[in-house]
Amino acid sequence: MDERDPQDEAAIGHGTEYGGVGHPEEDPRIHGERHPVARMIAIGVLAALIGTGITLLIDWFPEDGDTAASRIDTVYDVLLISSIPIFVLVMTVAIYSVVRFRAKPGDMSDGPPIHGNTRLEIIWVTIPFILVSALAIYGWIVLDDIEAKQPDEMVVRVTGQQFAWSFEYPQQRVRSTELVLPEDRPVLFGIRSRDVVHSFWVPEFRLKQDAVPGLTTHIRLTPDQVGRYQVVCAELCGLGHATMRQLVRVVPPDAFDSWLARRRERAAGGGGGAGGAGGGQAAAGETVFTDNGCGSCHTLSEAGTNGTVGPNLDNISRPNRAYVEESIVDPNAEVAEGFRRGIMPATFEDRLSPEELDALVEYLLEAQQ
Ligand code: CUA
Repeated sequence: MDERDPQDEAAIGHGTEYGGVGHPEEDPRIHGERHPVARMIAIGVLAALIGTGITLLIDWFPEDGDTAASRIDTVYDVLLISSIPIFVLVMTVAIYSVVRFRAKPGDMSDGPPIHGNTRLEIIWVTIPFILVSALAIYGWIVLDDIEAKQPDEMVVRVTGQQFAWSFEYPQQRVRSTELVLPEDRPVLFGIRSRDVVHSFWVPEFRLKQDAVPGLTTHIRLTPDQVGRYQVVCAELCGLGHATMRQLVRVVPPDAFDSWLARRRERAAGGGGGAGGAGGGQAAAGETVFTDNGCGSCHTLSEAGTNGTVGPNLDNISRPNRAYVEESIVDPNAEVAEGFRRGIMPATFEDRLSPEELDALVEYLLEAQQ
């Protein structure tokens, strides 16, 4: 570093800022400050402390809704505390170096020829390796503990489809479009998709799991705070992705039991009554409409839905049986004005039984205003 080509020195001499500097010893760019590395690191450490302080002041998380929340928040805090200082330190040193050691105008010389530094390389590979491994092991231990099998688990089957969630309680023989859970009871979710990849996520529960076509994925959690939350879809799944959110209610156990009873009563009222065909048929049609998530895309006053992804069903342009049926089983055959092809899944022909399709068409025609 001390050996400078006289030509370089001449070039430096022409620089405006340092014009007139005669001896290389006096040029701070050649010798730098007395301890540039120490100064760099001091600035970096200070910036890291400030950065970490700011990070910890930010309220990152929604309220806690289950027993896993506080443990997952701790994992996040540990990750932040161990990654923010390193990020800020590295960026500060990099920015400081770029500013402090930049080439002056007219300096055409090469930098010093450096050929590796084994000790430095071992250090900068080993430290990150140990850090990342330790964090991975810690995260795994916490997740393993959260996902441990619990006694007295309640099973809830979650089905994602474009663009709605539906829930089934097989032990209780109940289906629903809102997710109602008893407080303090462990729940095992079995998550499936009818079409594309969705992601089941209740932010207050922290845990998130993909719904993958052809697979059943699982998640375990124990809600421990009575409250109203939202289940959202956390995987871009089409035009209606942002509307794919539904109510989650965590209620005391006795309120859950009476909710189950009401659901069962309603289902029985809708399915039975073969004689009173009119009422039974309409109820069956509404069940099909609700269970298949039609309302998340379509407005239908009769069902109290207000989706806008697809056409408004209060005023079907041609309210006749053939047209409505075709629009359900082969939605791309004729697309309502102002809407695009390929948005509505073309899977309902397989998904609905002929009776369900009939009930749905009937229900929609009767609901016309
Ligand atoms: Cu389903 Cu995004």
